[in-house]
Amino acid sequence: MKKILVTGGLGFIGSHTVVELQNEGFEVVVIDNLSNSTESVIDGIVTITGKRPLFEKMDLRDKDKVQAFFAKHSDISGVIHFAASKAVGESVENPLLYYENNLGVLVYMLQELVKKGNSNFIFSSSCTVYGQADEMPITEDAPVKAAESPYGNTKQVGEEIIRDTCNVNPHLAAIALRYFNPIGAHPSVAIGELPIGVPQNLLPYITQTGIGLREQLSVFGDDYPTPDGTCIRDYIHVVDVAKAHVAALQRLIKGTNESNYEVFNLGTGTGSSVLEVIQSFERVTGEKLNYRISPRRAGDVIQAYADTSKANKVLGWKAESTLDDAMKSAWDWERKIRKPEENTTA
Ligand code: UFG
Repeated sequence: MKKILVTGGLGFIGSHTVVELQNEGFEVVVIDNLSNSTESVIDGIVTITGKRPLFEKMDLRDKDKVQAFFAKHSDISGVIHFAASKAVGESVENPLLYYENNLGVLVYMLQELVKKGNSNFIFSSSCTVYGQADEMPITEDAPVKAAESPYGNTKQVGEEIIRDTCNVNPHLAAIALRYFNPIGAHPSVAIGELPIGVPQNLLPYITQTGIGLREQLSVFGDDYPTPDGTCIRDYIHVVDVAKAHVAALQRLIKGTNESNYEVFNLGTGTGSSVLEVIQSFERVTGEKLNYRISPRRAGDVIQAYADTSKANKVLGWKAESTLDDAMKSAWDWERKIRKPEENTTA
């Protein structure tokens, strides 16, 4: 059984990926510092898969501990590296924290993998690297645009660090996955998204408004050059995102990759406007959402949706869930965590 290290494995995308890895028969070791997650996520993983991943609470900024970990687990076949900070606004306030967490740690991980020889590495990148792309849908060949935030910059520079390292280390194979907008929760509602404080992202803000935790959703701008004036994104079910990680890892393990550094978009290929997402919520839940149109939010691009043909063809992977499927799971999850006594979903 192949052993895989998942850093940040108790976070939103990480925990869903641990589930899919265990479902595919991998042995998983999770490292997480619990800065944006809780240890109880492991119980959710066990509920779904019947298996408890090994867990080490560790801050990967501690280089000695990272070295000691790899010395102890010399049989690791691959690393999926989610551990990173992801709040755009916070990155503007505290850039050095982002450069240390997202790039310092990446360097430590790569140093260990280079030392180890044959190794496989999957990196969480983002469609933020494209900025406002000139053409839709966005292919992997679209130019990378100047980053709008230190967070975005860590994804661009992170990709460059990996590419340069792969260039001179033929035994290291890496894939960067550029996520569009992951949403939803596992259909079992045993795991899901746990945003701390006021959510910055659209989906948790919608479900928290629906459940009565927030009074009203602000729709940031309705005067964009889009059919209904609101911004367009490619919302993808987190379980589909998780499955893509397994497909990418299997490509590296089998050695069917064409070069030792590859990049793939992870999206559905369909763009949805903010108002269409609200309509999906209302359709799925049968509830009206309290929202109002507000001024634009600084830094938002007008539209971003993926050309997914490369991942479809090369990884043999395709997003299967619709926006409504993802919305339903997000809503079931919100109801479960806020009103567990009323949870009737099974
Ligand atoms: N939006 C609202 N109201 C809200 C929150 C969001 O109208 O309360 C709108 C935004 O203006 C945007 C859309 O909903 O048009 C999606 O916003 P999100 O914050 O959910 O997602 P973004 O596309 O802005 O951000 C995502 C990731 C970031 C990443 C960014 C760019 O969350 O990590 O894509 O790639 F940096």
